[in-house]
Amino acid sequence: MDKKIRIGALISGGGSNLQAIIDACRSSKIEGQVVFVGSDDPDAGGLTKARKNKIPTFVVDYKSIIRNFKKDGGGTLLPNDFDFDELFTKQTFFSDTDDPAKGQFFLFSRAIAEAELLNAMEPYPFDLLVLAGFMRNLTPYFIDRVNIDRTRPRIMNIHPALLPAFAGLDGYGDTFRYGCKVGGCTVHFIDYGEDTGPIIGQRAFQIQPEDTIDSIRIKGLKLEWELYPECIQLFAEGRIKTVRRNFKLTGGKNVTRTVVQIVDS
Ligand code: GRF
Repeated sequence: MDKKIRIGALISGGGSNLQAIIDACRSSKIEGQVVFVGSDDPDAGGLTKARKNKIPTFVVDYKSIIRNFKKDGGGTLLPNDFDFDELFTKQTFFSDTDDPAKGQFFLFSRAIAEAELLNAMEPYPFDLLVLAGFMRNLTPYFIDRVNIDRTRPRIMNIHPALLPAFAGLDGYGDTFRYGCKVGGCTVHFIDYGEDTGPIIGQRAFQIQPEDTIDSIRIKGLKLEWELYPECIQLFAEGRIKTVRRNFKLTGGKNVTRTVVQIVDS
């Protein structure tokens, strides 16, 4: 792409990755600009970082949406185009053997929040949406409305572990507690599962006997601040291609996965 890409960001916390992305845009390591920052938490420190950089912000307060949904079922707030069966079939967070009430609660309450998110994002057209410490799982309701062209995913996430190991909320903690000798971080596209989408880039660090959870978090974050801008720049250069690949698992089962190939510009 010859012009700067427009980057939307969603955050939940301090926004150190957001700051790294803003800095990389400023120094032209990323040919892009951050056009909005949204958060699920009104107290997210990253919102202040965005405002200092004169980037428009908004909040969709997930906690209060979920609380209200528990109280009144939220029927009136459900988006008109919500289709539970379609979403349940697509998502991979819950299986048919899980308590159906759990999947229902999750998909109903998140669709209400996600419709608000989409609404808040509407004034800011964007090419790429980056999740920068956004601690909420997105459902197919949101994903399909952002990935209009299914062959060109455009929601990226950074995860604090070497996926597919240690998906979930505490990647560095889980890596440390498992006794791993190597840890790392992963940038991937979002798909319908938890941290399961096509991997774009990974960076690893050694874990020494004297390391603690805190010290490996510091090592990991330093790598995140390099890796995320690099992957975003690959997107800006049009160098990320996704391809469908068929292969046989040990045991014989055939699977098809979408994988990323980095191509020359
Ligand atoms: C990072 O480790 C990121 O990978 C995870 O949240 C942590 C905090 O990110 N998803 P930030 O400082 O808010 O960018």
